[in-house]
Amino acid sequence: MISVNSFSTRRPVRSFVRRQGRITSSQKSALVELLPKYGIQYSMDAGLLPSNLTGDPDFPLILDIGFGDGELLISMAKNKVGTNFIGIEVYDAGIGHCLKLIEQNKINNLKLVCGDAVEVMQFGIENESLDEINLLFPDPWPKKRHHKRRIINPEFIELMSKKLVLGGLVNISTDWENYAEQVLDLFDQREDFVKKPSFTRDENTKFEKRGISLGHEIFDFTYKLMS
Ligand SMILES: C[S@@+](CC[C@H](N)C(=O)[O-])C[C@H]1O[C@@H](n2cnc3c(N)ncnc32)[C@H](O)[C@@H]1O
Repeated sequence: MISVNSFSTRRPVRSFVRRQGRITSSQKSALVELLPKYGIQYSMDAGLLPSNLTGDPDFPLILDIGFGDGELLISMAKNKVGTNFIGIEVYDAGIGHCLKLIEQNKINNLKLVCGDAVEVMQFGIENESLDEINLLFPDPWPKKRHHKRRIINPEFIELMSKKLVLGGLVNISTDWENYAEQVLDLFDQREDFVKKPSFTRDENTKFEKRGISLGHEIFDFTYKLMS
């Protein structure tokens, strides 16, 4: 018999494990000093984004999920001054690194949220508010028994379809062929998304460079929400 406790202790399957990796002292200070300035405190009752963003509400809004060290996100924010960006990440060292870059480059169209993108999307982002969602080199979870941890799954695609405006885009890149096949399969099953010529990036991300150095092929996809 299943006890009540066995339900209450069950943890959700997450797409990440919190990395205890090295964090430099300047990244730590950035988290303390710069997060209040460039971060959005996310909690389930903190109010929905983008209404509580300070940037121009008429600008298009691009969400970058799992921005890593944020180098590409910074260059996108610099190059598209008429666009607002939100980055979501759980990796402290990456968030610290990105915060320093925001300050150094005087970026005023990018805010960061520290937290699980699945939760932030579910509870923190208004429906029909995002013009684009970037998922660049999501953790591949290559072992079959870990595939359930992949962030791109039917439920997450459904969630993205609710948060995008009509005509909004999902941009996905991966260097794992098996993940690319899964992306194709899942979006093929959706009548509301149509495959478009894939997006281009100004520069390679950290994980893209790693994939290339390992001899992996890079797969890029863009899907447009049509209905
Ligand atoms: C393989 S790295 C790619 C980083 C970066 N986009 C790049 O291409 O260099 C995947 C990143 O996604 C983050 N991540 C995974 N699941 C996440 C989630 N549910 N919410 C927020 N970030 C997540 C991880 O912490 C990690 O930094």
